[in-house]
Amino acid sequence: MPVDLTESLADLTERRPNLALDLRWHASLPSTMDAVSAAAERGAAAGLVVVADEQTAGRGRRGRAWSSPPGAGLYFSYLARPARGFDVLTLAAGVAVRAGIVEATGLAADLKWPNDLLVDGRKLAGLLAEAARIGTPEASVAIGVGVNLRPAAYPADVAMRATSLEAALGRAVDRGAVLAAVLEHLADTLAALEAGDAGAILHAWRAASPSGVGTPVEWSDPSGPRRGVTAGIDERGALIVKTSTGTERIIAGELLWHLRP
Ligand code: BTN
Repeated sequence: MPVDLTESLADLTERRPNLALDLRWHASLPSTMDAVSAAAERGAAAGLVVVADEQTAGRGRRGRAWSSPPGAGLYFSYLARPARGFDVLTLAAGVAVRAGIVEATGLAADLKWPNDLLVDGRKLAGLLAEAARIGTPEASVAIGVGVNLRPAAYPADVAMRATSLEAALGRAVDRGAVLAAVLEHLADTLAALEAGDAGAILHAWRAASPSGVGTPVEWSDPSGPRRGVTAGIDERGALIVKTSTGTERIIAGELLWHLRP
């Protein structure tokens, strides 16, 4: 493991010996999601974290690719074995990643439903959750986190919509400190969720998501094109949208957001 990561993670282990993180570093992987999902199938415990310096087949939500050039981002997946709180798990992870970035760098990104982190409307980080065996004692969720650290040779369509910690802050960033802070917040937030504290997590999510209320959105459903204005999230983490005919509760799917400039 590179020395910048070793030092920050050793500090974390010393400060929080009970966090039970099992961190595995790889110079290159197709996707950290596959590594964690395979380990989950083999019975790995919660707290396994697989980090890669580069991913050759990184993936995002809705079948999109996640560009993962070497050293340009933090790319990791975290194994959770939740017994409850599935509905708000990815929102909880977004709150935790945001809090870790604030702690390590001072940069307070906006959350955009369901789990993007934005700075000035540009994507800083994204989260992906892949669940297996839900409803059984072996239930697992691989929580994938991609944080852009520095500008990279992204494909043109990504470059237009992306930012990075170093671009937003205008200075170098210690990626080990970011990883350690994000992992600490992730472990603590998931423990809070497991302890039944979804209310506090939803409260934190709402406070960090200016687009969650009052933003025009468009989407398609079987009845055709739809439009409305965001009206917050409910207690199960669904997005509420007011339309001309009533209120819609959106749990998944692709939305077009008209964010305020
Ligand atoms: C999104 O916003 O679409 C989610 C992006 C998630 C990317 C991370 S990088 C680490 C992990 N491995 C992957 O292949 N994807 C996630």
